[in-house]
Amino acid sequence: MLELADVDTAYGAAPMLRNVTLNVRAGELVCLLGPNGAGKTTTFMTACGVVRAQRGKVRVMGNDVAALGTEKLAALGVGLVPEGRRLFPGLTVIENLRLGYDAVSNRGPKFDLQLDKMSNLFPRIRERLRQTAGTLSGGEQAMVALARALIGEPKLVIMDEPSLGLSPKLIGEYFEITQEIHRRGTTVLLIEQNAEMGLRIADRGYILVKGRVAQEGPARELLSSKTAKSLYL
Ligand SMILES: Nc1ncnc2c1ncn2[C@@H]1O[C@H](COP(=O)(O)OP(=O)(O)OP(=O)(O)O)[C@@H](O)[C@H]1O
Ligand SMILES: [Mg+2]
Repeated sequence: MLELADVDTAYGAAPMLRNVTLNVRAGELVCLLGPNGAGKTTTFMTACGVVRAQRGKVRVMGNDVAALGTEKLAALGVGLVPEGRRLFPGLTVIENLRLGYDAVSNRGPKFDLQLDKMSNLFPRIRERLRQTAGTLSGGEQAMVALARALIGEPKLVIMDEPSLGLSPKLIGEYFEITQEIHRRGTTVLLIEQNAEMGLRIADRGYILVKGRVAQEGPARELLSSKTAKSLYL
């Protein structure tokens, strides 16, 4: 569903990603781990075409992202949860969700029906639908950002550190919801700092260090691997 093949990226003259090859197959939950500054967000931006690969290929559901353009991704069935949530603070929760819904052109079910589904999946935001997003707590904003990505029923969701800044209880809740989405058939690429929690719900994982894939494998193997531990703990 998502394929990065031998990708290099750079910011100006500074190289960032080097030879990154990463695959997320249909139905998988894949976790991308790595220390601060390793290039995880750069990988997210490259996967959605905001940052152009200098070398290599980026394909989403068989489409070359460079040719497709970022704005077409939602219609293709890709939901994005960017770093820092990026909600519209002056708009209400419903209006933020509406934007996520409207980004998907080929929508089957009606908005109200989808809104109802999201309210059931995220009971915390049900009573806050008419509150402006900027006045929500950090945890509530995190839930709205995920609901906005899910409301168009994407086939693939890419999440960049969605649990950052959440309390341990909310992190647990967030991971349960992520697991539930995956169980219902959505393919997930989860970028995480909580390596252990991420790997516990993932099928496979990649560890990015200084712009390169330092290790990859089945999540269970990474969890018990000494090298993996030395890289991310
Ligand atoms: N627009 C930019 N221009 C120049 N350098 C950048 C730009 N964006 C990111 N970088 C640099 O690229 C490196 C990787 O950044 P990136 O945001 O991908 O890391 P990350 O793995 O997501 O880190 P974190 O865990 O802190 O979110 C960092 O050193 C960062 O300063
Ligand atoms: Mg980042």
